[in-house]
Amino acid sequence: MDKQIFFLGAGNMAEGIIGGLLMNKVFEPYQITIYDVSEPRMDYMIEKYGVISTPDPASGLADADIMLLAVRPQDMGQIRWIKEAEKKESLLTISIVSSTLISTIAGVIGEGKIARLMPNTLIQAQHGYSALCANAACTEEDKAALEEIGNAIGQTMYVEEKLFNAWTGFATSGPLMVYKFIYGMIEGGVYSGFPLEQSKKIVYENIIGAGLTLRDTGDYPLQIVDRMATPGGVGIEQFKTLEEGNFTNLCMDAVWNAVQKAEKMAEKYKVE
Ligand SMILES: NC(=O)c1ccc[n+]([C@@H]2O[C@H](COP(=O)([O-])OP(=O)(O)OC[C@H]3O[C@@H](n4cnc5c(N)ncnc54)[C@H](OP(=O)(O)O)[C@@H]3O)[C@@H](O)[C@H]2O)c1
Repeated sequence: MDKQIFFLGAGNMAEGIIGGLLMNKVFEPYQITIYDVSEPRMDYMIEKYGVISTPDPASGLADADIMLLAVRPQDMGQIRWIKEAEKKESLLTISIVSSTLISTIAGVIGEGKIARLMPNTLIQAQHGYSALCANAACTEEDKAALEEIGNAIGQTMYVEEKLFNAWTGFATSGPLMVYKFIYGMIEGGVYSGFPLEQSKKIVYENIIGAGLTLRDTGDYPLQIVDRMATPGGVGIEQFKTLEEGNFTNLCMDAVWNAVQKAEKMAEKYKVE
């Protein structure tokens, strides 16, 4: 992309995104400027990724075509300086800040072209959807840039902004639930006599393969279960045990409670 991008905040998520952008050659290191309140953090990023840092965030912003806002929600109050700062008229701001509406961001940094990207947590694997939304000021070119940046860390999906908090509870936190399920499966293997390393290998490939099968065939999970489960057989026995533990309902409750928590946290982090 023939643009300069400025990262305000260079923490964990910024690092994941920069890694994806460089790996996919969306930007070269000289096109990426970072500013973080922590100097050692900037030194680390320069050393590892060859990006440029600035001691003065205002100068990084002045040269930028895109600003990627990557501070924590509770630090939004510290970036009010942006409102009065010099910036290109065409500047596109992309915020990854959780729980913070475009209207709130505009109140802090001033009106303009503002989009949100809610990154997934599987950046390293380059799998997992990131949510996108953009305000009416954003052009088709801005949206193309937003999508290209999002696609460098997995897949992207536009969703209504009102679903962004739910996204955090459902999509972003989703892998945690899968990890917990994987843990249970591995323990099941060990309990049945398989050495831990074998059990891990078997479960990882089962999970990857099942995910790919569902994605690539377009089948709904129960279609496959119904096809595979021999009447009176092993599979249906497993299924019955899960349902005795109210497994489907438990998963739904876990998602719902996480979504409610994300909504509550959004209230807590409201920028006045
Ligand atoms: N982690 C996730 O899974 C995830 C997923 C989706 C979205 N997000 C969102 O992504 C954002 C970044 O999260 P993160 O996990 O990368 O957090 P993080 O590692 O704490 O990174 C934030 C960085 O911003 C720095 N910072 C604080 N105030 C600043 C300021 N005024 N100007 C410039 N830099 C400043 C922090 O420095 P200090 O630490 O020294 O204060 C820190 O290095 C958050 O808004 C989070 O809600 C996170």
